[in-house]
Amino acid sequence: MTDSTVPTARLGDDGPEVGVQGLGCMGMSFAYGPTDTDASRATLERALELGVTLYDTADAYGAGENERFLAPFFKAHREEVVVATKFALSIPPDDPTRRIIRNDAPYIREAVEASLRRLDLDVIDLYYMHRRDVNVPIEETVGVMADLVREGKVKHLGLSEVTGGELRAAQAVHPIAAVQSEWSLFSRDIEAGVVPAARELGVALVPYSPLGRGFLTGSFADADQDLTQGDFRRQQPRFTGDNAAANAALLAPVRTVAEAHGATLGQIALAWVQQRARVHGLPVIPIPGTRKPTRVEENTGATRIVLTEDELSLLEPIAEKVAGDRYADMTFTSAGRE
Ligand SMILES: NC(=O)c1ccc[n+]([C@@H]2O[C@H](COP(=O)([O-])OP(=O)(O)OC[C@H]3O[C@@H](n4cnc5c(N)ncnc54)[C@H](OP(=O)(O)O)[C@@H]3O)[C@@H](O)[C@H]2O)c1
Repeated sequence: MTDSTVPTARLGDDGPEVGVQGLGCMGMSFAYGPTDTDASRATLERALELGVTLYDTADAYGAGENERFLAPFFKAHREEVVVATKFALSIPPDDPTRRIIRNDAPYIREAVEASLRRLDLDVIDLYYMHRRDVNVPIEETVGVMADLVREGKVKHLGLSEVTGGELRAAQAVHPIAAVQSEWSLFSRDIEAGVVPAARELGVALVPYSPLGRGFLTGSFADADQDLTQGDFRRQQPRFTGDNAAANAALLAPVRTVAEAHGATLGQIALAWVQQRARVHGLPVIPIPGTRKPTRVEENTGATRIVLTEDELSLLEPIAEKVAGDRYADMTFTSAGRE
């Protein structure tokens, strides 16, 4: 490891050692407006040089397009990368605001084969259930996922947007390496239930949207005004209108801490998420998303920033003041099931 490479952490008690910051690849094909594919490819390579080894995708991102886009990179670096993908969620092409969730055995079996084909791999390193279909017992879903491990199609299992109770039920069927849920200065719901359960069970936490989908970097202030038509963030209540204006004002203490460190707002947001590991006593491996090599340099630089107790106290009140939900339709999250 050199001074500029990120330290490592273990993905759960039995999981692989990975760079303590991963890379979210969703935006390279989906959700956040036009993409420059050459810059995205350069971002993947730069991330690897900096010690980022966990790469996050899902079958839902661009209806398979994101997995196809990543396949050559994974092929070229198979021994160095940990490939994480997900099943359970699909978005009907004729209605991009809708979500269809499936957790049943025939669906999972089809989904894993399709992901393996698109990724052009023999085995997926970390396979997540992306969303929970409450009509299927979680034990049944994880039972099928465990069969995939036994059959050699998948190495480790993960769950996204589950409750502490659901994690416990799942872990009783098969070891779970990681829970992936939204965790940032703006989104801290998971600290009540799933984080304590993960700590107790030896499961790693993989925070998604640790930069608040970019809002915490100050790179946009109002999704309707600053982002292109079709950008997913224009559907998210906290990023538009009066909510966005109120939430932008909440960045003042982040700015104060950033100035003290000679750092960017985004780096402070990431350092805060990273320090959840010490605060809550479990491995935390955030997966900030970016399509720009310079930003991956900036973001990995955050792993070297340590916030003081006073700084953490200054940042502590932010989350409870955030105006607006994480999603327009919260029924597709773990909210309300805890
Ligand atoms: N499990 C789930 O349900 C779920 C949900 C959402 C996301 N995810 C995963 O989590 C990953 C990360 O989440 P996310 O992409 O939603 O949100 P995020 O990481 O919080 O933010 C990504 C946004 O921030 C911008 N950004 C990144 N670094 C920046 C920097 N240094 N300065 C300014 N702007 C910067 C990116 O723009 P550029 O790309 O243009 O740099 C992008 O628009 C995704 O890629 C995906 O793999 C999972």
